[in-house]
Amino acid sequence: MDFNLNEFLGAVANTLDIIEIDIFGMATNHSKRLAYISVKMAHEIRMNSEEIFDLASLAMLHDNGASMKILHDNLMGTAKEKIDILESRKEHCIIGEDNLKNFPFLTNPQNIIIYHHEKYDGSGFFGISKDEIPLMAQIIAFSDTIDLAFDLRKTFNKEIVTKFVREHKNTFFSPLISDVFCKISEQHEFWDALSDGKIDDSLKMVIPNYSKELNYNEIHTITKTLSKIIDSKSQYTQSHSSGLSMKLKKIAEFYKMDPIITLKLLIASDLHDLGKLAISNNLLDNPGKLSKEQYEVIKKHPRITRLCLQNIKGFEEITRWASNHHEKLDGSGYPEALKAEELDFNSRLITCLDIYQALREERPYRKSMDHQKAMEILVGMVDAGQLDQKIVDDINLVFINCTN
Ligand SMILES: [Fe+2]
Ligand SMILES: [Fe+2]
Ligand SMILES: [Fe+2]
Repeated sequence: MDFNLNEFLGAVANTLDIIEIDIFGMATNHSKRLAYISVKMAHEIRMNSEEIFDLASLAMLHDNGASMKILHDNLMGTAKEKIDILESRKEHCIIGEDNLKNFPFLTNPQNIIIYHHEKYDGSGFFGISKDEIPLMAQIIAFSDTIDLAFDLRKTFNKEIVTKFVREHKNTFFSPLISDVFCKISEQHEFWDALSDGKIDDSLKMVIPNYSKELNYNEIHTITKTLSKIIDSKSQYTQSHSSGLSMKLKKIAEFYKMDPIITLKLLIASDLHDLGKLAISNNLLDNPGKLSKEQYEVIKKHPRITRLCLQNIKGFEEITRWASNHHEKLDGSGYPEALKAEELDFNSRLITCLDIYQALREERPYRKSMDHQKAMEILVGMVDAGQLDQKIVDDINLVFINCTN
C-alpha cells in the first residue's frame, strides 16, 4: 500500500510525547525541537529532501532507547534533571540504534543514533572524532547539546546560545556545524518556531512529504520495532506483544486466513498496547490491589492506542482491532463498552488471545498459568457472556500442547 511516512512519523511523535508524559510528567518537546533545528540546518547544508526526511525521523527518535524501563527506573528530580540523567547513560544510544534497525528510512542511514552523543574533538561516549562521526549524527548531537544546555523556547537566550556555539567550534562542534547554526540563528522566525505552542506546526512546514510503497509484510517488520519498545516498558511484559503475535500466527494458520488479513492482525497485535507507554510503571508493575482510580488510569490505554494510530491511512482495521482488545461481548469491557454486535470476528479474536497470552505470563501479583488453568478462566468468561465461545474452543484446540 501507499504508506504515508509523515502520518507514520506523526504517530511515532505522539507515542514519544506520551512516553515523555509518563517519565517526566510533561511533554518536553525535546525531540521535536531537535528535529526542527536539525532540519533547518540540513536545508542550509543543502542535503537532499530524502536525507532531510530521514534526519527528521532520526532526530525525533534519537532518544527512543530511553523508554527502556531499566534506564528510567528510580529517576528523581525535575523533568530537566531526569532528562540529564537519561542522556548521560550511554546505553540509550546503543539500544536506540538497535531498535531502529527496521525503520522505513529512505536513504539507509547508519550509526546515527549510536553516535548522537559524540563530540567533534573525540570527547563523546565512544571517543570517535571529526569526520568519523556521520554528518547526521553531528547535527543531532549539536541540536541535543544546545537543547540540553539552554531553554531554547526563550528567544532571549539567543545571544548566549550563539556565544556558546562559537566558543565550542572545533571542540564540541565542527566549524561547518557552528557556522551554519550561527547563520540560521539570525532569523527571528527560527527562535519563534521553537516555542511549545508552535513547534508542531513549525515541524510540519519544514519536513518534506513522503510516501513509500510498502506491502503489509514490510510494515509488519517496522511495527515489530515498536512492539519491542512497548514490551520493554515493563519487566512483566517483556514478551507480551511478541507472544501475542506468535499465537496469532498459529491460529491464523489454523483458520487458513487470508495472508493480508493475517499480517494486519499481526500488526494490530504488535501495537495493541501502545497506549501502555503512557501509563506509569508504578501502576503497571504494582504487586498490590489497585484502587478504583488507579484502575481507571490503566483502562485508558486502548483509547491512547487508537489516538496514536487513527491518522494513518490504511490502518483503519488495524486501529479498530488493536484498540478493541479489552472490549467484551456483554458490554462490560473498556474503553467504549462495546456490545457483541459491534465487535467483529478479528476484534474478538485479539481479545481472547490477549487474555490467554496474559494468563500464560507471570504478573507482579501471580505466577504464570499452564494451558489448562488459563482455559478454565477463559471458559468462565464465555459462560459469563463476555467472550466468543467458538474462538475460545479453537484456542483450546490449537494451544493444548503449547508450553509457553
Ligand atoms: Fe540522547
Ligand atoms: Fe536527547
Ligand atoms: Fe491491553
